[in-house]
Amino acid sequence: MTLKGLLVKDLSVEVAGKLILRDVNLEVRPGEIHAIMGPNASGKSTLAYTIMGHPLYKVVNGDIILDGESILNLPPEERFKRGLFLAFQVPPETMVKTRTLYTYLAKRNNISFTKILQYIRDIGLSEDILDRFLNKNFSGGEMKRSEFIQMILSSPRYTILDEPDSGVDADGILMISRFLKQLKERDVGVLIITHIGRVFKEINPDAVHVLIGGRILMEGGPEIIKLIDENGYEYLQKLAVKR
Ligand SMILES: Nc1ncnc2c1ncn2[C@@H]1O[C@H](COP(=O)(O)OP(=O)(O)OP(=O)(O)O)[C@@H](O)[C@H]1O
Ligand SMILES: [Mg+2]
Repeated sequence: MTLKGLLVKDLSVEVAGKLILRDVNLEVRPGEIHAIMGPNASGKSTLAYTIMGHPLYKVVNGDIILDGESILNLPPEERFKRGLFLAFQVPPETMVKTRTLYTYLAKRNNISFTKILQYIRDIGLSEDILDRFLNKNFSGGEMKRSEFIQMILSSPRYTILDEPDSGVDADGILMISRFLKQLKERDVGVLIITHIGRVFKEINPDAVHVLIGGRILMEGGPEIIKLIDENGYEYLQKLAVKR
């Protein structure tokens, strides 16, 4: 029997000829919420892109295993088909009509158009985004909310959320918190990159990993979030070195 989960094993990654991630290990089981925290430029988005298979991010060592099978040689769309989803930190502007993508994703999971409209309303977006180009001139919050709709319509088994909370208003943060709870209840494995502890208002993460300088320097439970909020990363770094 293969053990279910998204496993990142001894992962080292190079971007533009520079080593960014070093020996990263992670294991996200279905229904678990893992938080990745870390200072700017520490490699968090690099990890997200690498798991999803972005061609610019070169794996120089290690493996990424999805439900017992290596996905390293699979292109992003194949990883998506196997149940992986990535909500971008900065979603790219596209020339695709939002309606086209939403209906494509919904069809794969037998989700009706009426249901799409309901999701759009529930998430606090206006229906007119359907007739706009995806992410073009969307406000910061609209982009983030739209990423959530894409995630719901994709029904992923493992989802990576790269700072879903950045630039989102107070209601949006609460909404994300409720989403995390629902994802856990539906047995989805969640890897959330965040700087904001408030997204865990409704539910605590099962684990927190602190990424500094491309390495995971500290791991533990929600208590780490408080430690970061109160003392910052430099303090944590010193603490980790002493250990
Ligand atoms: N495509 C790229 N080309 C060149 N350098 C890159 C590329 N992608 C990432 N980097 C570099 O890799 C480092 C890590 O970037 P990354 O985006 O992973 O950081 P991050 O932890 O997500 O930061 P933030 O909290 O600011 O989002 C940075 O120094 C960044 O400039
Ligand atoms: Mg980032």
